[in-house]
Amino acid sequence: MEIFVVPDAAGTGAVAAGILAAVIRSKPDAVLGVATGSSPIPVYEALAEHRLDLSRVRAFALDEYVGLPAGHPQSYAEVVRREVTERLGLDPALVSVPAGGADDPHRAADLYDAAIRAGGGVDVQILGIGHNGHIAFNEPGSELDSRTRVEVLAERTRQANARYFRSVGDVPTKCITQGLGTILEARQLLMVVNGADKAEVLAAALNGPVSPGCPGSVLQLHPHVTVVADEAAAMQLDGREGQVAVRVAAPCA
Ligand code: GLP
Repeated sequence: MEIFVVPDAAGTGAVAAGILAAVIRSKPDAVLGVATGSSPIPVYEALAEHRLDLSRVRAFALDEYVGLPAGHPQSYAEVVRREVTERLGLDPALVSVPAGGADDPHRAADLYDAAIRAGGGVDVQILGIGHNGHIAFNEPGSELDSRTRVEVLAERTRQANARYFRSVGDVPTKCITQGLGTILEARQLLMVVNGADKAEVLAAALNGPVSPGCPGSVLQLHPHVTVVADEAAAMQLDGREGQVAVRVAAPCA
């Protein structure tokens, strides 16, 4: 496990974008696993600054709410369109998001899992982590080998995501999420974490027991993990992660 610690979110964005840019330069049709939430936004902003030709890059979103109307601004399909596809100049035909509006979301989840495999799998999966240790929308209690499926959102997650809605009542109760087993099949995991409020959960994920109680702990099972954290989020890391935290004075170019 490789850990980069940089001063702030702009730094984590720059370091993570540098890692992605290197992958894309070596594989112009790379498959990116893209995350929503606030942590990856500086990554997408910094990657756009690399001015790479990303028209052949393919992308799979980690998750999607179930039941939002098509075009809802907070559907992950719309969030990914704005923050990833349009910002990076991806070909919309090469960007996939789980069909949260499908009549049968369970079948849509199965089809999505199969589509990722059929696409050759994900080269680099970008991840954030929720305050309760969730990754994608795998809530505590998710089986470590779970596949893409319909998941019930924890109230703590709905409260955290309510900031994007008029009220918590408007936050869907269910989602389609790539499973932990699905995520672990990516060839590289790239987790971006910012803020003191994530220090405890990041330390639990990297230092604690590998357990469904903290879904982020599955990172310890993967052979190629890069964590990029700002100093506030890295406060409780102490090197037990099997890798001395690399303190990068300035973001990689
Ligand atoms: C949501 C997303 C996750 C994301 C998490 C944390 O639950 N489904 O993919 O990691 O929020 O978001 P943030 O990076 O804003 O803390």
